[in-house]
Amino acid sequence: MDYLSINKEAWDKRTKVHVESEFYDVASFKCGRCSLNPIELKQVGNVQGKSLLHLQCHFGQDTLSWARLGAEVTGVDLSANAIKHANSLKQALDLKADFIESDVVQFGHENKQQFDIVFTSYGVLCWLPNLVDWAQTIAKSLKVGGEFHLVEFHTFNDLLSGYPYFPDSRPDVEEEGTYTENCDGTKTTTVTWSHPISEVINALIDAGLKIESFSEHPYSPYNCFDGLESVPNLGYQMLYKGQQIPLLYSIKARKVAYKAL
Ligand SMILES: C[S@@+](CC[C@H](N)C(=O)[O-])C[C@H]1O[C@@H](n2cnc3c(N)ncnc32)[C@H](O)[C@@H]1O
Repeated sequence: MDYLSINKEAWDKRTKVHVESEFYDVASFKCGRCSLNPIELKQVGNVQGKSLLHLQCHFGQDTLSWARLGAEVTGVDLSANAIKHANSLKQALDLKADFIESDVVQFGHENKQQFDIVFTSYGVLCWLPNLVDWAQTIAKSLKVGGEFHLVEFHTFNDLLSGYPYFPDSRPDVEEEGTYTENCDGTKTTTVTWSHPISEVINALIDAGLKIESFSEHPYSPYNCFDGLESVPNLGYQMLYKGQQIPLLYSIKARKVAYKAL
């Protein structure tokens, strides 16, 4: 199955919907709003003067937010439409950034630059069949001593929604809408995979990265799943039998050496 073409088409369609959504609120972003959340801002820290690679950057708001904070940014995404909108935003805001249309793993094979920081967040891993290749891309793209930062939706929620927790080489193929409020029945075919947290951590370790912190979070900044409830000043939570479920996890890792497999 040509999952890259299928997902590319899905994300081209989704991007068209997303750039017009209240969820992404491009108008306030253009007026100076930072699209990054406290979790990643705190974890990544000061980016002034640092080179930062943003994998699966969508249409670039987070990438350009890092640029506004002083980073020299490169964003990579599979969707041609997302990269087109990222470049338009960059030009409209007169910011510096390189946006590259590519599959993450293909980018890893072709890229020669090494960065101080590699960042990726919120809804990225399920689109990738193979985390070994993903982690190799990260390791190859970092300078020795450079940092990797991931903030991702917790797979616990997927499990409660009926998706497998443990890896299955057969992907989930679905006809589905997107997560913004203006979706209006627009459906796309998507191909996704489950990745338990142990698989993520082991892929990073095997690529030569040293895990420096791992955290789980009960609040999400995004209202993008069924069953979430708003908690003032904290975000959205989900209760299962009256208890909070983990909605996000975050990992900070450092490249101590590059280990080719
Ligand atoms: C949920 S979005 C990431 C969300 C992002 N944090 C945001 O909201 O701005 C997932 C992104 O992954 C991209 N993507 C999916 N498969 C990819 C692949 N194989 N290589 C690169 N990008 C991919 C999609 O085009 C999409 O822009």
